[in-house]
Amino acid sequence: MANLAINGGPKAVNEPLGKTLYAEWPEIGQEEKDALMDVLESRKWWRGGYTEDNLEDSYVVKFENAFAEYQGGKYAVACTNGTQAIELALKAAGVQAGDEVIVPCSTFVATATACILVNTIPIVVDIEPETYQIDPEAIEAAIGPRTVGIMPVHNGGFPADMDRIMDIADKHGLFVVEDSAHAQGTQYKGRGCGTIGDLGTFSLQMGKTLTCGEGGIVLTDDEELAAKAYSYHHIGRFAGRPFYEFHVVASNLRMTEWQGAISYCQTLRLPEQTERRDKNALYLEDGLREIPGVAPLERGERCTRWGFYYYMFKFISDEFEGLSREKFGEAMGAEGVSLGKGHIHPIQQNPLFTNRNFGPVAYPEGIEPPDYEKVETPVAERVMEEEICTLGHATFADADTRSMDLILAAIRKVRENVGELV
Ligand SMILES: Cc1ncc(COP(=O)(O)O)c(C=O)c1O
Repeated sequence: MANLAINGGPKAVNEPLGKTLYAEWPEIGQEEKDALMDVLESRKWWRGGYTEDNLEDSYVVKFENAFAEYQGGKYAVACTNGTQAIELALKAAGVQAGDEVIVPCSTFVATATACILVNTIPIVVDIEPETYQIDPEAIEAAIGPRTVGIMPVHNGGFPADMDRIMDIADKHGLFVVEDSAHAQGTQYKGRGCGTIGDLGTFSLQMGKTLTCGEGGIVLTDDEELAAKAYSYHHIGRFAGRPFYEFHVVASNLRMTEWQGAISYCQTLRLPEQTERRDKNALYLEDGLREIPGVAPLERGERCTRWGFYYYMFKFISDEFEGLSREKFGEAMGAEGVSLGKGHIHPIQQNPLFTNRNFGPVAYPEGIEPPDYEKVETPVAERVMEEEICTLGHATFADADTRSMDLILAAIRKVRENVGELV
């Protein structure tokens, strides 16, 4: 008789794990309702309704201040979404058409498309096998005469190797923009991700741990960069200057007060939620270490707090009787634990890159993007095909470890009955 659910046996998990998206997640309360009513009744539905005298009453400004304080940055500019947050950061950093920015291959495509949208060329590099984060050696190897910046992504919210990245940037005179779309709450050696490079960007899109449906925010410790990011999100106005005076060519990327109200209330919830998730993750990690064939990412001294968007762990086929990760995922799904794979292929393999279908970008004559079909990222390919397993952040949102115990029980069951699969 079969034991595994995939072969007709009983399921290991017969209940939802963690909090269910749209039913129980995001967490909301009277605070959000009151804030939305405040906005409604104020009749000031955009940040422009507030002046120097009452700026602190704007929910967008409250959100900027609260998030900057939690993550550890000095200045913040809230905006429309995480993609445009990257565009703002790159423009503030001073990019020019045809400049190159180094990005990892293991990320959401927006990391690279945001580069193209401001007329720069993304140079895509491989990841480290241990942490799945951009490989500093690959960064150094990719630096050329047109390189102006590095954009590490804290993939899955796990921190990239910021010390080495900042050293490389210093050595070569490059800026660093941290795409921290996944890393609300993450700390690298005690410092908030997104506050270590020149600028950091975040997404508040619905799937993220901090969300208002759609939104973004840029952090920086540099007053001048903050003023530029502010101007680029505000049609080219400078703070404190007349309303109809414009200084740079820029779009309207302002966050509304509605989004500000939700983002602010959600930011106040974020510290406790991050602790809750990370406590569960640490508990899961202890359990994973005891099961042959699976392993957590080792945090070392690099990751002092993991504010993950998706949690990542490793499946090691050689230690799992040669079972494939695909089959492991299917068996786990049948047991009632749905595993993801993060990003399913390196970004440069998208037709957008292989066809260099970049739309109306204007690179200077003689400057062309690389042939992305020739860009090799073997570590990411192996990891994505054979190794990485992910779990969504809401799975970790319970106050107790019940869901973690159920996940571990399901993995143990598949491990003990692997003979049914190989
Ligand atoms: C790594 C990364 N960068 C940028 C973005 C873009 O953010 P948004 O969807 O808010 O535009 C995302 C969105 O998921 C992302 O995962």
